[in-house]
Amino acid sequence: MSDVQNTVNTVLVVGAGTMGNGIAQVCAQAGMTVTLTDVSPAVLERGMQNIGKSLSKLVEKGKLDGAAKDATLGRIAAAGDTSAAAGADLIVEAIPERMELKVALFRELSAKAPAHALLGTNTSSLSVTEIAGAATDPSRVIGLHFFNPVPVMELLEIVRGLTTSEATLDRAQAFATAIGKKAIVVKDFPGFATSRLGVMLGCEAIRMLEQGVASAADIDTAMKLGYRHPMGPLELTDLVGLDVRLAILDHLHREVGEQFRAPALLRQMVRAGYLGRKSGRGFYEYPDTKK
Ligand code: 3HC
Repeated sequence: MSDVQNTVNTVLVVGAGTMGNGIAQVCAQAGMTVTLTDVSPAVLERGMQNIGKSLSKLVEKGKLDGAAKDATLGRIAAAGDTSAAAGADLIVEAIPERMELKVALFRELSAKAPAHALLGTNTSSLSVTEIAGAATDPSRVIGLHFFNPVPVMELLEIVRGLTTSEATLDRAQAFATAIGKKAIVVKDFPGFATSRLGVMLGCEAIRMLEQGVASAADIDTAMKLGYRHPMGPLELTDLVGLDVRLAILDHLHREVGEQFRAPALLRQMVRAGYLGRKSGRGFYEYPDTKK
């Protein structure tokens, strides 16, 4: 493979939700040409708006100048289909956490992508090895797990599946460096390093709320002031999405064990549509985003 093909210049991000639009933004900020796609035109439009808002925030803070913002926006194209896969050096999947959807997508995109393309999944807990099994060449599939808000969080958790090649791992690490993230490499085990620990803290906080140990605000204050966490576990669950955390817990409960059984309160809240910030209500209320 030539050096040109080894370097990631062109990226297709599939899924324009919270994670997908953040991933598209950081790639474009690093000078890559990006196509962002989603099956929902509304989600795609909101995703592009979020990128604009996030870049404006960086300009306000003096971290980016106006010209760099315009150049970054100019490198991102919104598309209603995945035809850009044919010219991509890297495809990053950031669609909902459902194995059947991911398998279908990797089957389709790996057939369309060039032979050198790196195929990344942003799954937060599902098996990278199982997803890779759907691809024409499983050795080029790797977990690229980003964190919300993507433009701010420094970590990229690289998940090496059983079939991921050494060359793919090397290229993923080079990609992390190119977008300014610090990478850790973990084995493909349910929940990896981050989600397994992160959901457990959130899960215990919800159980404590159910048991009336303290109010939501006091549980969050406990961890912010007592442990210097930037956000409390319930605030963070609102940021990540209650539905996202419930899906991770259900998966880890099945795959790892009883300690990950989801609290009844979490399931009830998801059923009620209290999904956190994105729906206007979770453990707290967000009147600005109320639908
Ligand atoms: N784009 C650009 N800049 C942003 C931004 C965005 N989307 N969101 C926040 N910022 C910037 C702010 O402008 C600010 O910049 P400054 O330091 O120059 O002033 C800085 O980030 C901090 O933001 P704020 O002052 O608004 O607020 P905070 O200091 O409370 O920080 C936070 C916000 C960065 C979200 C911080 O609370 C935090 O780090 N929280 C924890 C987040 C976390 O744990 N994420 C991981 C979730 S798990 C996950 O994503 C995995 C998935 O698989 C589920």
